[in-house]
Amino acid sequence: MSRVAYVNGIYQPHGQAVVHIEDRGFQFADGVYEVWSVFDGKLADYQGHLSRLARSLTELRIDIPMSAEALGIVLRETIRRNRVRNGIVYIQITRGTAPRDHAFPKDVAPSVIITAKSIDLKKGEALAAKGAAGVTHPDMRWGRCDIKTVGLLPNALAKQAARERGAYEAILFDEMGMVTEGSSTNAWIIDENGKLRTRDTQANILRGITRAAILKLVEAEGIELEERAFSVEEAKRAREVFVTAASSFVMPITSLDGTRIGDGKPGPVATRLREIYLEQARRDAV
Ligand code: PDD
Repeated sequence: MSRVAYVNGIYQPHGQAVVHIEDRGFQFADGVYEVWSVFDGKLADYQGHLSRLARSLTELRIDIPMSAEALGIVLRETIRRNRVRNGIVYIQITRGTAPRDHAFPKDVAPSVIITAKSIDLKKGEALAAKGAAGVTHPDMRWGRCDIKTVGLLPNALAKQAARERGAYEAILFDEMGMVTEGSSTNAWIIDENGKLRTRDTQANILRGITRAAILKLVEAEGIELEERAFSVEEAKRAREVFVTAASSFVMPITSLDGTRIGDGKPGPVATRLREIYLEQARRDAV
């Protein structure tokens, strides 16, 4: 029996069902999902899962793409078309497809994917009768910012918050008030004493390639450097703040939460580093 998937209003053969490569679910994990078990073709805990789905969507400010009634019809139709008596049905709703930018796209319809599959309940019964093994594991949700994963939802939410406040970048800080990095950049300051500082990469941050290239230039330029965390307050008092990334090169940040940094103009160190970084990057590009 061939499986069928619902993708944005169309029932398609499961093996050929696709979403666009620029779907934000794929690019940023910018979406939510819900799962119902199915008994005798009917959805278990229907209202509970539906309410959580609505809540998840509301929290992420993704428009609820169809009425609860319409959703119920599509879920049941997917179950019916897949001839699921006992099994499971999944829905994934993402913010939709848009050119890649961390901040939310405007006027984009959410993507809706529904799939259903049969499950042999007897297997679960057998295991339940025997008992199942467990192991412990560190809760890493999400403590591995060193991995350049597409799981960028928190970054996208931070960037969106920055955009909504008229800012270029969100500078992220940890529970101690220490700056980690930008939502899609590494963060640097020239502190009150004129020292260049950026957080060390033992911390839970991305090991920026631009950061590493800048570090080499910094050494060559003889700029005094400390790879040591700085606080939000230190950043606000700094002579200069800037961020680095493949997409931004070296970008001076001249205000932070409305506080003017230095004299409110790009500082000499950021300006110089941007210039020599671009010169080298252009020259050495292969
Ligand atoms: N972002 N930190 C985060 C969280 C990033 O996403 C990035 C890059 C950086 C800088 O890394 P690099 O210097 O290697 O680009 C730091 C890319 C540009 C992006 O998501 O668009």
